Amino acid sequence: METQSKDRIIILDTTLRDGEQCPGATLNVDEKLLIARQLARLGVDVIEAGFAFASPGDFEAVERIAQTVGTEDGPTICSLARAIREDIQAAARAIKPAAHARIHTFISTSDIHLEYQLKKTRAEVLAIAEEMVAYAKSFIEDVEFSPMDAARTDPEYLYQVLERAIAAGATTINIPDTVGYTTPSEFGALIQGIKANVPNINSCVISVHGHNDLGLAVANFLEAVKHGARQLECTINGIGERAGNAALEELVMALHVRRQYFNPYLGRPVDSEEPLTKIDTRQIYKTSRLVSNLTGMLVQPNKAIVGANAFAHESGIHQDGILKNKLTYEIMDAQSIGLTDNQIVLGKHSGRNAFRTRLKELGFELSETELNKAFLKFKDQADKKKEISDWDLEAIANDEIQQAPELFRLELVQVSCGSGARPTATVTLRTPSGEELTDAAIGTGPVDAVYKAINRVVNVPNQLIEFSVQSVTAGIDALGEVTIRLRYQERVFSGHAANTDIIVASAQAYINALNRLYAALPASEGPREQVIAEGVSK
Ligand code: KIV
Ligand code: ZN
Repeated sequence: METQSKDRIIILDTTLRDGEQCPGATLNVDEKLLIARQLARLGVDVIEAGFAFASPGDFEAVERIAQTVGTEDGPTICSLARAIREDIQAAARAIKPAAHARIHTFISTSDIHLEYQLKKTRAEVLAIAEEMVAYAKSFIEDVEFSPMDAARTDPEYLYQVLERAIAAGATTINIPDTVGYTTPSEFGALIQGIKANVPNINSCVISVHGHNDLGLAVANFLEAVKHGARQLECTINGIGERAGNAALEELVMALHVRRQYFNPYLGRPVDSEEPLTKIDTRQIYKTSRLVSNLTGMLVQPNKAIVGANAFAHESGIHQDGILKNKLTYEIMDAQSIGLTDNQIVLGKHSGRNAFRTRLKELGFELSETELNKAFLKFKDQADKKKEISDWDLEAIANDEIQQAPELFRLELVQVSCGSGARPTATVTLRTPSGEELTDAAIGTGPVDAVYKAINRVVNVPNQLIEFSVQSVTAGIDALGEVTIRLRYQERVFSGHAANTDIIVASAQAYINALNRLYAALPASEGPREQVIAEGVSK
């Protein structure tokens, strides 16, 4: 896939790298692969798949994404690397299997970073940037260079660094607003200044990267596009460090809905209908849900484009207008982001083949074991609920494929509650050694009682920091999706599960998070199996 085009916008998705850096969003390799496959379906040009040198897990994720998603007609697969030889070597090895691959190397250039973090002079950083871009180039043609904290870097110095990086072989230069400090007009002026003062700038693509600390990331990027930026680095649902990154769905839909406004900046006739990006916008909603489910990072209801209320009209005046003509209060169609493709396709008489076929059409490639388990769950749900929609199917399939290693398994959960009753729960769990343990507890409510009963079996002190239940579809028989986040020592783990019974979903989501926690226990805490054995109360 050709990514160097200058008359359209290149989308680099960094959900799996910068997005995954936010607390609790940690994904395992299989989950990263699922997201990468969906990003390819969404049509992103470049997937920044991770930071290969950071850990063996990161390396494996980048390499497996390069192997499976980096096909000839697939996206470019990119790994981040500090401007350090070992980082660049790891990145080069990890991306090697991809048909189109990129190394993205970076070094800070702002005085504050140079003085306090790098403890290097401007001249030293200039030389490192040049040398390391050339080193990356010795492995691969497609090299991106980022002067970190560019938005707070002295522009004159920034121009010099960029010129030298481009001369050394950078094909994309990326301008990061690392701390989310800039404003749209300042950022636009910075891009304009770069175009005017970096003599070799036309031989590469200008990219932008920005954080949302002041809520300005998307606005900053759109202004940058007007001044010549042609690659946007963004994440699904805007997840990322602190307040997150610029949100892909917002950028893409702004460029789509307002293309007549942006066309002239890309040298096109005002009324050109040619899309400005290669994104298949109908995949946006599905991608958003997948990322939210797997990372446990919920989407706020009023979030632009993908929030639950983004297309809801409450006020009578708005509803009246919409009924008369949609354009009165709607600037885009819910269908354009794939929101209304919610067909009722299966029911309790549907067979395994129909189930498998529909899942395949929805883009799920389940292993035989996953398919068998998902099918049982589907039958169970179809018994309770007459009709199973695509969204229900997605929830069932996501639930199956996203499971953390099944160390503990929920065998039974039973609650007794109601007015005048003390909420009481009994749970039976199968431990990693195959033993079945049962315990019971009283709580302030049924979910609290279930969590306390599970805690009595899985004896790991942790703090529940987030618990949410959302319905997958409308209706009293809807599947309930539970997302939780818990803190163990300094780390955050997420869990997710869907079921028509929200108590069962709550218990499964909790077990899911506990399994991630156990799976992530470092070697320094002793063999995991031993910790598990000690953690389980007898
Ligand atoms: O925010 C930042 O500056 C980054 C760079 C590594 C591009 O993420
Ligand atoms: Zn960043």
